Amino acid sequence: MRSILLTGGNGYIGTHTCVSFLKKNYKIIVLDSNVNSSPISLKRVKEIFKLRKNSQENIIFEKGDIRNEIFLRNVFINAIKRNSPIKAVVHFAGLKSVKDSVIDPLSYWDSNLFGALCLLKVMNKYKCKTIVFSSSAAIYGKNIKNPIEEISLIKPISPYGDTKVAVEKILENLFLSDTKHEWRIANLRYFNPIGAHHTGLIGENPYDVPSNIFPYICGVAIGKYKKLNIFGNDWPTKDGTGVRDYIHVMDLADSHLSAMEFLLNNEPQIINLNIGTGIGTSVLELVKIFEKVNNCIIPFDFYDRRLGDVAQLIANNKNAIYKLNWKPKKSLEDMCRDGWKWKKLNPNGY
Ligand code: NAD
Ligand code: UFG
Repeated sequence: MRSILLTGGNGYIGTHTCVSFLKKNYKIIVLDSNVNSSPISLKRVKEIFKLRKNSQENIIFEKGDIRNEIFLRNVFINAIKRNSPIKAVVHFAGLKSVKDSVIDPLSYWDSNLFGALCLLKVMNKYKCKTIVFSSSAAIYGKNIKNPIEEISLIKPISPYGDTKVAVEKILENLFLSDTKHEWRIANLRYFNPIGAHHTGLIGENPYDVPSNIFPYICGVAIGKYKKLNIFGNDWPTKDGTGVRDYIHVMDLADSHLSAMEFLLNNEPQIINLNIGTGIGTSVLELVKIFEKVNNCIIPFDFYDRRLGDVAQLIANNKNAIYKLNWKPKKSLEDMCRDGWKWKKLNPNGY
């Protein structure tokens, strides 16, 4: 049986995607440098499957950096030696803070672009030509008409978004240059993943003060932060606060499995897909639902608009639903309940 390689598989979205692939009996290899994650996350994934000591062969962990080509080659060689060559890659590994990317763009280009280049070169060498890439709604930037379609204007407003556009471009170049027509590529453009696996065993584990809203709300609920600062109540939205398309992280995880199976079962192609629910929720609505579902109070204040924010980001997800035999199944209530369960059970992360 051949393996699927998940780069960055110890991270937030990666661990949940491990669960999706293992549920369908795939053999997976998780590659991670743990620069922003804990290897304990994989132990938790195994706990979810109640794996016994002698039945852990479905997950292999390779610790290292994707920018280290020798290490990467060894990951492919080791898989061949185990008689389970890598058939396809889900590429999560990279840095993801919009704010940090403005402060330190070189690190972002190095991890996200140079990392992707190293990976693609090694994939090419070992004739592994199927990839699902973690792209982002950040590529659409500011001047957009909602809901956003895949053909909407691509105009990122941060170095982070720039790196995602650049990798998508490299993948397009690669596909167009491929005279043998072997490359199969899916760029999944995520909207706002929140929540956690319903067991509360795995979840988002930010090392710093979270800049994203959901882990911050959880931090307020657990008493770590006094109140939520809502960035602006004068946006041109239904209640003046920012509107986003929140998607349960397990629905997002399942979209990777569906995209991979779609690629492997169809003609070689390159596809760009928005992965969201198509539903816009304001910050105030999110806070209210969180309070209701989890029976708690989230104190908040209105604060200035955050630099670089946009009023709304909502996906037109029709292409993903049509192509992938996938659709988001979980509600905002599920996201709030599951995310809070993870935080309650793991107040300090892993
Ligand atoms: P995360 O930080 O939790 O996971 C990324 C993982 O990659 C971490 O485990 C980190 O240790 C690892 N990593 C980073 N650089 C590496 C390198 N050079 N070599 C090996 N491992 C490395 O982030 P996440 O939320 O799980 O995001 C995964 C992917 O999805 C990222 O590419 C991110 O840009 C993209 N994305 C995330 C969001 C979001 O809101 N979480 C939205 C859109 C896109
Ligand atoms: N917000 C607050 N207070 C906070 C944090 C956020 O009011 O403490 C508001 C923001 O202003 C925005 C909404 O909550 O209106 C969502 O903000 P997030 O930071 O959670 O998410 P963003 O949409 O700004 O960014 C996320 C990812 C980016 C990605 C982008 C588009 O963090 O990596 O979605 O996919 F680029």
